[in-house]
Amino acid sequence: MSNDIQITLFDRQGGEHQLDAPTDMGLNLMELCKAHELPVKGTCGGMALCSTCHVYVESEHHLPEPSVEEEDMLDQAFFVKSNSRLGCQIKISESLDGLVVRLAPEDEEA
Ligand code: FES
Repeated sequence: MSNDIQITLFDRQGGEHQLDAPTDMGLNLMELCKAHELPVKGTCGGMALCSTCHVYVESEHHLPEPSVEEEDMLDQAFFVKSNSRLGCQIKISESLDGLVVRLAPEDEEA
């Protein structure tokens, strides 16, 4: 499909996954990970209420600023870094072609 983009995702064991991401389905990164059966829980269904979709953005892509809700949730999350984002708040769009993200550790792995 011509309107797919490529996203590189590293799982919690460092494994690399090349994800084909359609830009015309209104997906977010959490949903994309689940569609590829990657270990992202997405417990709250994408409401920015759980942080189980926590990722680190490792490429230089310019993402929209996080919402107040996302900022609040990241304030409460573990292992937060300056490049932390909630996957469910990252909308798949053409400008994200080549995005590189890494899954953050799960809280219970602390
Ligand atoms: Fe719950 Fe993203 S799925 S915060």
